[in-house]
Amino acid sequence: MPKTFFITTAIDYTNSAPHIGHAYEKVLADVIARYHRLKGESVFFLTGADQHGQKVQQSAEKAGISPNDFVRSTTDKFIDLWKKLDVKYDAWAETIDPRHKQVVQGMLQRLFDEGQIYKDKQSGYYSVRQEQFLTDKERGADGEFGPEWGQVEFREEENYYFKLEQHKRWLLNMIDKRSKTERPFVIPDFRETELRNAVEKLSGDLCISRPKSRLNWGIELPFDSDYVNYVWFDALTNYISFAAYNPKIDKYESQPQEFLEKWPALQIIGKDILIPAHGIYWPIMLHALGFPDEAMPQLLVHGWWNLGGAKMSKSAGNIVDPNALADKYGAEALRYYLMSDIATGKDAEFSEERLLTRYNSDLANSLGNLLNRTLNMSGRYCGSGLANREVDDEKLNEWSTTKSLDIDARYRHGMESFDIDAALGWAIHFATFCNVAVETFAPWKLAKDANRKSLLDAVLYNLAESVRTIGILISPVLPKAAHGIFDQLNWKMELSGKEERFSLADAEWGKLPDGHVVGKPVPLFPRIEQ
Ligand code: MSP
Repeated sequence: MPKTFFITTAIDYTNSAPHIGHAYEKVLADVIARYHRLKGESVFFLTGADQHGQKVQQSAEKAGISPNDFVRSTTDKFIDLWKKLDVKYDAWAETIDPRHKQVVQGMLQRLFDEGQIYKDKQSGYYSVRQEQFLTDKERGADGEFGPEWGQVEFREEENYYFKLEQHKRWLLNMIDKRSKTERPFVIPDFRETELRNAVEKLSGDLCISRPKSRLNWGIELPFDSDYVNYVWFDALTNYISFAAYNPKIDKYESQPQEFLEKWPALQIIGKDILIPAHGIYWPIMLHALGFPDEAMPQLLVHGWWNLGGAKMSKSAGNIVDPNALADKYGAEALRYYLMSDIATGKDAEFSEERLLTRYNSDLANSLGNLLNRTLNMSGRYCGSGLANREVDDEKLNEWSTTKSLDIDARYRHGMESFDIDAALGWAIHFATFCNVAVETFAPWKLAKDANRKSLLDAVLYNLAESVRTIGILISPVLPKAAHGIFDQLNWKMELSGKEERFSLADAEWGKLPDGHVVGKPVPLFPRIEQ
């Protein structure tokens, strides 16, 4: 059965509007998905919105509307943004979807029937304002609960618990076993180490319910209508409920083909939700449901965009709005910045000035300028008709992706290891190399010497071929610009505007035929003045 490349992101909380961190994760996933399509693989990219929970219930109350209306309007803001940023997913997960509810309830019922979920009494200090039980961690230096918790009272509450701790050994073994393979459970390495340490310390089971008196905006427990599920069984399950998983079928191997051809997924998440949700609860949930070890997903954990050295947060008022940036500079400029100025796995500092600098230097100066010169000189010196000539010139012979710079291999390596910044860097490096070659060969000088016509033709051909290759390599990050390049090269016009226009196999040297006529230059990345 041919496997589909299945990629997911975290689903975003819909208690407020999207910010730059959300946009980063979506674009990252979109780029990886597009790269796999570029390789000719079938891809299933699932993302969506996390719509239940206390915060949503509170925000809706504040706004004076129903939670349902509230999540509709916030969710639509996310959808509009993904459209604006050209994030092309194959399926959209909304946790209020009845199909999703059914899967969550089916899973809970099965685990309950199998004795993996039990009811227990909890007692302790409870903050009425924050609507949560407090632990000793919440006590201040004086041993008291601070004023931020409002009225604190002693309470007893019954809830449902999922047996977590009993799977601890299994989880440690799974992480270790996978660590040595080509598909470690967690990347990068240092996050795997963090997770392992956290699992070592795991104790206790997971509370998975809230009485309806406290929270009603959630999925009702199928075995007790006084409770709703809280929170992770609802949120995490989206990854399988929107991929055709059927909780009524015990045996993993008997799941629908539609599910088996996709799962397991590559799951992209931020560093804040690795421990405990994605790194502990999620694999244990899957394991408890009978997923074999080979069917555990892979977690790609990215870092954070900070602002002024601090975490962005609504309360600190330092949120960067991706909509405003896309309106101001264009979606592609924003995509490029988000992919080129952070190393996957690490944090980065957001700076609008850096966005401009990278755009102007890499896109306007290097790539845009190269395209412009190539088409201009082709028009001027060979009437835009390319001639693919065999010329024995040492420097010229070196000038191809595979022969000298090995860009194609380096690019692939970067993309395969999710180092998008490195992969992109090689494509831009190639453009810079070509700009240097223009100066070295000086076509304007060659044009004055009839004896050097062949070399002139060959240089112009190489330039066009290089630009075409770069167009393919940047297409996952800059799909619109890649189309612009192909349109101006007058290449694959029958597929104009379609993603199928680009294929990594075409990034092979010499595909432009002898006599191909290129188009006129149109500025692709006009400089943005600061
Ligand atoms: N709803 C949960 C995830 C459920 S997944 C089953 C959630 N939502 S979130 O809206 O708070 O965050 C969504 C994603 O955005 C997370 O992966 C989070 O790490 C990421 N980011 C939030 N702020 C970020 C930055 N400042 N920078 C980069 N990514 C960050 O968590």
